[in-house]
Amino acid sequence: MALTVGYEVDEGVAVLSLQNPPVNALGIALRRDLLAAFETALADRSVRVIVLIGQGKLFCAGGDISEFGKPFKAPWVPELFNTVEQSTKPVIAAIHGAALGGGMELALACHYRVCEARARIGFPEVSLGLLPGAGGTQRAPRLCGAETALELMITGKSVAAGSGAARVFFDLIVKEGLREAAMTFAQRLVEKGLPVRRTRDARNGLKDAAAYQTAIAKWRKRLGKGGAEAPGEILRCVEAAALLPFDVGMAFERAAFDTLEQSETSRALRHVFFAENKVAKIPEAKAGHARALEQIGVIGGGTRGAGLVALSLMAGFEVVLVEKDAPSLARALTRLRRLLDRAVSRGQLSALRRDGIEALLHGKTDMVALSEADLVIVAAGGDALEQGQIFAQLDAVVKDGAVLASASPFADIGALAERTGCAEDVLGLHFSLPTQMSDLVEVAVGPASGADAVVTATTFARKLGKVPVRVLGVPGRIGGRLMAAYQAAADRLVMSGALPQEVDRAMRRWGMALGPYQLADVMGLERVLARQEECGHDRRVALLRALIKDGRLGRKTSKGWYRYDADGGRVDPEVAAMIASLRGQTGGGSFPDESDIQRLCLAAMANEGARMVEEGHVMRPGDIDVAMIRGFAFPRWRGGPMQAADSAGLLSLRNLLRTCAQDGDAFWRPVNLLDDLIKNGRHFSDLNG
Ligand code: 3HC
Repeated sequence: MALTVGYEVDEGVAVLSLQNPPVNALGIALRRDLLAAFETALADRSVRVIVLIGQGKLFCAGGDISEFGKPFKAPWVPELFNTVEQSTKPVIAAIHGAALGGGMELALACHYRVCEARARIGFPEVSLGLLPGAGGTQRAPRLCGAETALELMITGKSVAAGSGAARVFFDLIVKEGLREAAMTFAQRLVEKGLPVRRTRDARNGLKDAAAYQTAIAKWRKRLGKGGAEAPGEILRCVEAAALLPFDVGMAFERAAFDTLEQSETSRALRHVFFAENKVAKIPEAKAGHARALEQIGVIGGGTRGAGLVALSLMAGFEVVLVEKDAPSLARALTRLRRLLDRAVSRGQLSALRRDGIEALLHGKTDMVALSEADLVIVAAGGDALEQGQIFAQLDAVVKDGAVLASASPFADIGALAERTGCAEDVLGLHFSLPTQMSDLVEVAVGPASGADAVVTATTFARKLGKVPVRVLGVPGRIGGRLMAAYQAAADRLVMSGALPQEVDRAMRRWGMALGPYQLADVMGLERVLARQEECGHDRRVALLRALIKDGRLGRKTSKGWYRYDADGGRVDPEVAAMIASLRGQTGGGSFPDESDIQRLCLAAMANEGARMVEEGHVMRPGDIDVAMIRGFAFPRWRGGPMQAADSAGLLSLRNLLRTCAQDGDAFWRPVNLLDDLIKNGRHFSDLNG
């Protein structure tokens, strides 16, 4: 079996190179090989110094995340690093690319550190619901103090090794020629007879006890009560580093790490890490090539269209915006300018670039202006008929190889493609609203969409800073369908005894930023109704229709599910009366409690997600999780609706759906996939590949 650690000796220096592509993660094979290589180097009397270096694009990306939550296999990372630190021969870490999490902790366990200035270092464990659990919370503060350690560990952000406070970790920072620099450094250690220098004995970072305590107090205040577990545990461990002997601090860190590793939150966040990597793995990526993209065409300058134009301009593309007439174009340009100004005020665009950016824009009222566009996005045309006409007209004006995309969530891509002579270049690009804030783009692939067109569209989405998720080009997108199912569950709960504010409170406490009714008021009730109808919930919208009939359209009319004044939204007794009257007609129900509310909303979303997987609409349940987190503010720490359903227990959710389906409404019937998973003792996560 190939070794994951290379070993060579060069003039008394043993060079141990980590060779575990793609990111030199500290999996069991690498840990065993590294330990064996160390033992060899220690036993070899010709070796005076040991250099640890990474092969490939980076030094080491840390612990192997796929091993977390599974039974422990020796040597465990902290013990391995202790062996490195205890070495009687000096050990130098030579860092290029990145040293993250356990990778940085490995470097800290070495006696000296040499790095490339542009290498990224950091402790991203917090984003996995973890803490640096291989001595990071104990060693780093001994070198850099509490402020830098907490900043790095609680934010999880990486920084350039050669920048600011990060420099404190390194003995030598070079622009290039890392290996040569590390070898020269090693020879100098030998010549000068410099001893091992263990970070566990370092005091520099602890010297200023007052500054240390001030940093702890500042972060404690910032974190406040409650909140995520990992940041609080990091704070406690860093505090312990100054109070406890090193070995006791290590045991303290280990206990905290073990607890976090077993938590639902960390399990969910680890799932999201892998799901976000997998979402890019689409069949077209293997076969297709991205075409050159310079000029983007956008038809329609409404909310979505103007947002797309703004994003494209900000990404540096030349844009042709086409509207149906001069007044519509003028309105679209006003909308666009507002968006650009807002981007400046949010810091997404510099004032300097804002001044020049409109030079890249051509506002037109004739589709002929799109003849040179490389990608045209149709953000106009409400219904299928109108969209079809636009695609047929476009076909006559665009150049060969231009990709034609519909921005509508209800577009049937196959049908649109038939209106053109270039079916392989037609697909959907559905940007979630608000386009500036949401990360999600659903790339809808029709039966004839070609690999090049799909790869070109996903590349475009990434250039705009978005996360593309591949879906089938049939009407309805992930977000729309799951949010519609969520709303249907909420409405059912209200009809059976809960009040809108109770549903909202329960779902906020579960982790959603807004409850479904607060969100509906923000979106506008007419838009919500349109979505519910388009997603086939016509028979579940009686209440919504009653509110709209009463002129309650949401925040924009100062009343919807709530009533709004200058002080914000408040519960409206008139809505309660309308609900009571409708319940009277349908017989009312059973006063669900908070957990009933949360479970039914989750069951409805997961069942709809399962339906989409079953239909082949999405490739994996994990893609749904990514879409809901990136596009619909689903709490990341819950891992997305499919992962949350796995955690909640598929059997109990299925039984809940069955109970609801007893009234004969097919929407509530658990889909076959759910039954199959339960029968086979499997979970949605088993389908992610
Ligand atoms: N463990 C397992 N797999 C990992 C990994 C890790 N730490 N880091 C990356 N990978 C995998 C990815 O899943 C991906 O796999 P795939 O090809 O099968 O999809 C592959 O490596 C390549 O990763 P990317 O596509 O993300 O590569 P990039 O070049 O875009 O990014 C990176 C490289 C910046 C290192 C990025 O992968 C990253 O951020 N990785 C995670 C780093 C991290 O969180 N480290 C902490 C781990 S926990 C830890 O160390 C605990 C310790 O304290 C005990």
